[in-house]
Amino acid sequence: MCGIIGYTGEEEAVELLLNGLKALEYRGYDSAGIALSKGSEIIVEKSQGKISQLERKIEGENKDLSSHCGIGHTRWATHGKPNDINSHPHATENLALVHNGIIENYAELKKFLEKNEHYTFESETDTEVAAKLIDCFYRVTRDPFRAIAEALKLLRGSWAFGVIFKDDPGVIYATRKDSPLICALDEKGNFIASDIPAVLKRTNRYYTLEEGEIALVCADKVKIFDMDKRPVKKEIKEADWDVEAAEKGNYPHFMLKEIFEQPTVIRKTVSPRVKDGLPQLGIPKLTDETLKRFKRLIIVGCGTAMHAGMVGKTVIEKLARIPVQVEIASEFRYSDPILEENDLIIVISQSGETADTLAALRLAKEKGCKTMAVVNVVGSSIAREADFVFYTWAGPEIAVASTKAYTVQICAMYLLTLRLCLIHNSLPLVQVKKLTEELLDKMPVLVQETIDRSGEIRKIANRFRSVEDLFFIGRGIDYSLSMEGSLKLKEISYVHSEAYAAGELKHGTISLITQGVPVISVATWDSCYEKMISNVKEVRARGASVIMLCKKGAAAADDVSDFIIDFPECSEMFMPMLAVPSMQLFAYHMAVFRGCDVDKPRNLAKSVTVE
Ligand code: M6R
Repeated sequence: MCGIIGYTGEEEAVELLLNGLKALEYRGYDSAGIALSKGSEIIVEKSQGKISQLERKIEGENKDLSSHCGIGHTRWATHGKPNDINSHPHATENLALVHNGIIENYAELKKFLEKNEHYTFESETDTEVAAKLIDCFYRVTRDPFRAIAEALKLLRGSWAFGVIFKDDPGVIYATRKDSPLICALDEKGNFIASDIPAVLKRTNRYYTLEEGEIALVCADKVKIFDMDKRPVKKEIKEADWDVEAAEKGNYPHFMLKEIFEQPTVIRKTVSPRVKDGLPQLGIPKLTDETLKRFKRLIIVGCGTAMHAGMVGKTVIEKLARIPVQVEIASEFRYSDPILEENDLIIVISQSGETADTLAALRLAKEKGCKTMAVVNVVGSSIAREADFVFYTWAGPEIAVASTKAYTVQICAMYLLTLRLCLIHNSLPLVQVKKLTEELLDKMPVLVQETIDRSGEIRKIANRFRSVEDLFFIGRGIDYSLSMEGSLKLKEISYVHSEAYAAGELKHGTISLITQGVPVISVATWDSCYEKMISNVKEVRARGASVIMLCKKGAAAADDVSDFIIDFPECSEMFMPMLAVPSMQLFAYHMAVFRGCDVDKPRNLAKSVTVE
């Protein structure tokens, strides 16, 4: 999604803005731009395409862009095509503005503004409407703060705004609703940013802005006010991510680096939660008594996070015997769900900013339910709003395709399952202890062994690099894993793929299985293994080329598959930790072979802050 950076201070702004935008490239974008305060002027430079295109444009024009204050933006098109005019910043006679989010009532506001002689519109964007609305109030009040505050009262939708005014050089105004924005503090100036990596090279100290707050970011201070201009006291936060964590190092892609970080982040997430060999969630205010009170769990998320929830459902139901429902956040929020007092709503999100997941959380709270977030970004909106927070410690995930974040999300599901088993006495203590130890000590080692086989998986991917369609099949938990494998492959290699519950194939889709069609069969779950083999035989009989994902030495695998990716012995519930990284690597190598932009796949954004 769109990215925002702003800087005001003693250094040259252009370079800092462009570097900040580059650090935000991973969020996905299709145009970029900057606006600089220069005396009583504002200079805007923007261009469709990559930041390098904007840089070339700037170099070609050979203008004097020296300035100590400016704002920058990477746009991910929603209203209007990706082109120069629709790119941000949008400027008026008095100000320039960058915007993340969507102004839902832009059409009606545009009609209203068009009646004013000062305004004609050149872009197709909702953002231009916001810029002109603030400008309209500024003409009357000549007060930037009041102009923004008045405009906000009329806007509907979501926004993070950075605004500079001609008459107030050196100050960046910032405000937000349903879209993240931080004010970061540095010795030589201050920043605004939509995301911590944008400023991480300079500082890890920041304020998060809350809804209904307006920040005045100056070179030597940041002042934050409520809408009535009463000062708000805020706590400075410190991100514990370091610069290297947000850089590729020697890896060709962030995605590969992040796949290889999985053993480390499993340890980081699990080890602080194991005491005396037993799982401790360590979630403030979530006592065992509270947890015991919940009779049903509803897990909500989008994409990969939702797939992690599906693994959670299987293991919680199987071992702790508590009913679990898994919901797609964008469906859940509009489904008028029937929620009971004894339901715990668990939202899973890497970014903690996904618009639909955040809305689902708010809906659950409105209906009087307790909410728990499994979230990776500390201080994100979802983390701030949930009643209970389980932080996963994956560090920054930069590649659009989620890999290490998924693995620690399922670790969160395992720890929750094991704690529930203790609370509800559904498994003997020794067994809970054994499984906890296995998760902590053995699994990181086995995950390492699996990803070390990247070369073998690459060879298989090479064999299938030219296919256009591929199927994943599995039963039970293996169906959930198939969905994740299929999503990963689609999003980065653009190979059309579908995930099917293996038993369902013969109810229609098997008609698509013809000679040579690749079918990845995930068969890690013992109770369904034999049924799976029958299903694999069915596709094979129709000519499918079968890649089998199963335990080492799984009987029958040899007879029914063309390729085998097998995993070392571990408890069944932990098999997803081995199967999914193998599928991540398959998708990765396919994408590389096909010349795709692995870390920034087309049309996609890392953090989906619009509906
Ligand atoms: O930040 P979140 O975990 O809430 O993001 C949810 C999905 O957008 C995300 O998992 C998406 O499906 C990934 N790009 C998949 O790799």
